[in-house]
Amino acid sequence: MCGIVGYVGDKKAASILYDGLKRLEYRGYDSSGIAVNDGFNIDVVKKKGKLEQLKGKIEDNVNGGTTGIGHTRWATHGQPSDLNSHPHSDCSQNFVIAHNGIIENFQDIKKYLLDKGHTFKSETDTEVIAHLLEENYENDVLSALKKTIENLEGSYALTILNNKEPNRIYVARKDSPLIIGIGENENFIASDIPAFLSETKDFYILEDGEFAVIDQDNINMYDFDLNPKEKEIYHVDWDPEMAEKQGYEHYMLKEIHEQPDAVRRLMANRVMPEGIDLEELNLEEEFLKNLNKIHIIACGTAYHSGLIAKYMLEDLLNISVEVDVASEYRYRNVPIKEDELVIAVSQSGETSDTLASLRKAKQKGAKVIAFTNSRGSSIAREADEMLLLKAGPEISVASTKAYLNMVVAFYMFSLFLAKKQEKIEEKEYLEMSGDLIKLPDLLDQVIEESEKLMEDKAKQYAKSENAFFIGRHTDYTLALEGALKLKEISYIHAEAYPAGELKHGTLALIEEGVPVIALGTKESVFEKTLSNVTEVKARGADVTAIVYNGAEDIEEVVDHVIYIPEVNELFTGALTIVPLQLLAYYTALIRDCDIDQPRNLAKSVTVE
Ligand code: G6P
Repeated sequence: MCGIVGYVGDKKAASILYDGLKRLEYRGYDSSGIAVNDGFNIDVVKKKGKLEQLKGKIEDNVNGGTTGIGHTRWATHGQPSDLNSHPHSDCSQNFVIAHNGIIENFQDIKKYLLDKGHTFKSETDTEVIAHLLEENYENDVLSALKKTIENLEGSYALTILNNKEPNRIYVARKDSPLIIGIGENENFIASDIPAFLSETKDFYILEDGEFAVIDQDNINMYDFDLNPKEKEIYHVDWDPEMAEKQGYEHYMLKEIHEQPDAVRRLMANRVMPEGIDLEELNLEEEFLKNLNKIHIIACGTAYHSGLIAKYMLEDLLNISVEVDVASEYRYRNVPIKEDELVIAVSQSGETSDTLASLRKAKQKGAKVIAFTNSRGSSIAREADEMLLLKAGPEISVASTKAYLNMVVAFYMFSLFLAKKQEKIEEKEYLEMSGDLIKLPDLLDQVIEESEKLMEDKAKQYAKSENAFFIGRHTDYTLALEGALKLKEISYIHAEAYPAGELKHGTLALIEEGVPVIALGTKESVFEKTLSNVTEVKARGADVTAIVYNGAEDIEEVVDHVIYIPEVNELFTGALTIVPLQLLAYYTALIRDCDIDQPRNLAKSVTVE
């Protein structure tokens, strides 16, 4: 959701900014722009649509300056258009700015500025910042910036060029991510690390309430009262290739195939034949022993990982688990006690609703752990403790490997807690730990065995306008995730139901040829699911079943079957999700959809 880049150095800025924006495309956007300062002019070009359209304009209209900023916009205030694209400038063209986030009080500020005689070119909330800087400027940009942000309500990652200092960029951050990449004779600015991973592995992570003044060989950081700040360098160990496609047609397919390795990385030094070691969470023995209620808060796919965890924790520990969509949780009056645990789950670690919910839970005195893929993110920093998901950079908007690592992280955590609470026999504990260790190889097997069939089924299902996913127990939560994957990238209307719920309404929608994906990986409830499958089959549905190894009875009833390799029943979800991801991928491929960047969606949702 909106991407920002910046460059100050000794090379031509335009192409570096463009390449940085290209690597942030995955965040989702509908228009883009760059501004470059060569000491004489700040040239600004901006264009509605994909970055390729901007490229043509850059060559003819942008100077060869070595300082500049760039932006990909995901429209909030004002429709996607050339004029509403960033960067924006003030009346005198002295300040040129790009902004991620939302200025909530922009209408009041705009009215004030209009009264002062400023003229506006766009409908955006952002433009008020440029004019407010102009209004507050008295020969010192930092003071003008301080005064300006004192009047802003909302969220912002801001980058600012000004005519009088051609080799300098000012930045400010509140509730929207911003990082500074440290180079030699050059420095970089971005909303996310993959933008400049090929240029540097050393970064400063700007925190809320901080400014930075960035020159070619100097980075000075301040708090919002202008006190200087020293910050630690954050060194990433990702290879640049991890954020490239490596021969795959889409990031999504690459990331599906990376899942066995992602799970191996997650479990390394944490899951051993002798058990689970999550002491890194620093949770006191007493707290763990007495823990009898857990709250899980998350959005989208991450929320679905929490739903699996609920079944798992309840089954294994018999404790109460509430799972909430963060955009609801933040406005609910949820009673939380100090001896309860809150787990905030977020791939990006920047989802605005999850962050707000985390803050609310902390205010109420709860202990909060973050399960996140981004160590330097806001959610990671604000939680009391963190479990790093180690999935590696996930570029496709539709989450696959990060989801899987969330699910496996919950498996690990549940077993760890069961042991601490002495709710599991040693033998079972060791067997389950052993089953976890087998998961990466089993994932390889499932990818190998299901890919071709899912590709074939996709050819048939790509013609449908509706699809239904059904299952019981954790299979129901997998159904929810499978339906989400299909709808977000193929735009087919997909719904998930607990299998037993169909007869309360949805059965009315089942007719000849409608695709139903039936999940029956739980032996304990399989017979019940089988009856529901018979009901949809009797009404003409085309059923693809994904079942446990040994459920051969289903072959007589359905059109296609995929068997999930043998593993502890509580862990089947980690394997079942793979064919569902592949089905969504190949269906979207046949429908010629923009798989990695589905329409209207963003990877990192930093606004409400
Ligand atoms: C967006 C993404 C989803 C993701 C959700 C939560 O909607 O498109 O793929 O599941 O945000 O993101 P998070 O980074 O908090 O896991």
